Amino acid sequence: MGINIISTGSYVPEQSVTNDELTKFVETNDEWIKTRTGISSRHISAWEPTWHMGAEACKKAIEKSGINPDDIGLIICCTITNDFHTPSVACIIQNEIKAFNAMAFDLNAACTGYIYAVDTARRFLETEDNMKYAIVVASENLSRITDFTDRSTCILFGDGASAAIIEKSDKLYSSYLASDGSGARTLFARCIDRKEEFADDTEFDDGFVDLVKSRKHALVQNGKEVYKFATKALPKALEGAAKKINITADDIDVIVPHQANLRIIETAAKNMQVSMEKIIVTLDHNGNTSSASVPLAFDEALEKGMIKRGDKVCIVGFGAGLTYGAIIFEY
Ligand SMILES: CC(C)(COP(=O)(O)OP(=O)(O)OC[C@H]1O[C@@H](n2cnc3c(N)ncnc32)[C@H](O)[C@@H]1OP(=O)(O)O)[C@@H](O)C(=O)NCCC(=O)NCCS
Repeated sequence: MGINIISTGSYVPEQSVTNDELTKFVETNDEWIKTRTGISSRHISAWEPTWHMGAEACKKAIEKSGINPDDIGLIICCTITNDFHTPSVACIIQNEIKAFNAMAFDLNAACTGYIYAVDTARRFLETEDNMKYAIVVASENLSRITDFTDRSTCILFGDGASAAIIEKSDKLYSSYLASDGSGARTLFARCIDRKEEFADDTEFDDGFVDLVKSRKHALVQNGKEVYKFATKALPKALEGAAKKINITADDIDVIVPHQANLRIIETAAKNMQVSMEKIIVTLDHNGNTSSASVPLAFDEALEKGMIKRGDKVCIVGFGAGLTYGAIIFEY
């Protein structure tokens, strides 16, 4: 069983921060950032909670589709920047969009979140007889977990949200989802502290605990390791999904990759011998918005007429976990 994406909608904060503006916080420059990443600016939320951005994206998608929110049976919100440990962002969004007949939960697969969530939604649509529509929304406030004194990370990330309304269909579909927890330490952001009196970390004290303790709640990464992983994971996921339906990268019309770094995308494209012409790139003005990056790029490509009904589209992501995955579907 495949999916039909009925409509999409996005929300990005009004505030756009250029590379030059980041020089207020760290020693860097526009040329270094552009050359190493392809990023020129990113949106940073001024006040918007994650749930607000997600709800706004959903409202746009619902308006475009003309569906009745009562007919939405499932809301999955992918995020690594929840407003609360509980309740989920998805439940708050449910109330905002008045989809009172839906089940709602959050899904954390980091930057691969949207790929995981779309495939999860498809499985629910297939098995729940009375489920008409699902909403998958990715909403990220990465600026909340960004250390703006760390120049190797703060130049990369941005905020935003994007949603899609999905129904089941017989159209072409294939997915490939994977994770490699042995790489968990290459990219992480720690959780809240516990009371020091109760802490006994000696059992786990292999150096990592000290590193985690020293970094507050911000994203920490081994940039070079993540880079190496990403350039391999992207082709592996795409080819894994293609193989399941006996096609190759050549048969895919449009590729929408996770928008982490232009050099990662270009290297992966070269390794797959795929022309950059069929790859959607929006990171120059959005930066890396984690799980929101693929749907934001997908929505923008639709708006610009770069994806048409009937196209074979591949959405492909990679990120912390480590996680990676791809979906090939007919739009
Ligand atoms: C982060 C990243 C852009 C760094 O690029 P790089 O080519 O590996 O750069 P390096 O870390 O080797 O640093 C090279 C030099 O630039 C410096 N540098 C780092 N960030 C800088 C910045 N923002 N401005 C100027 N100089 C910077 C470093 O300090 C280093 O200086 P040194 O040689 O004097 O020590 C790159 O590793 C990357 O994109 N990794 C993947 C990250 C990612 O996508 N994460 C999310 C995945 S979902």
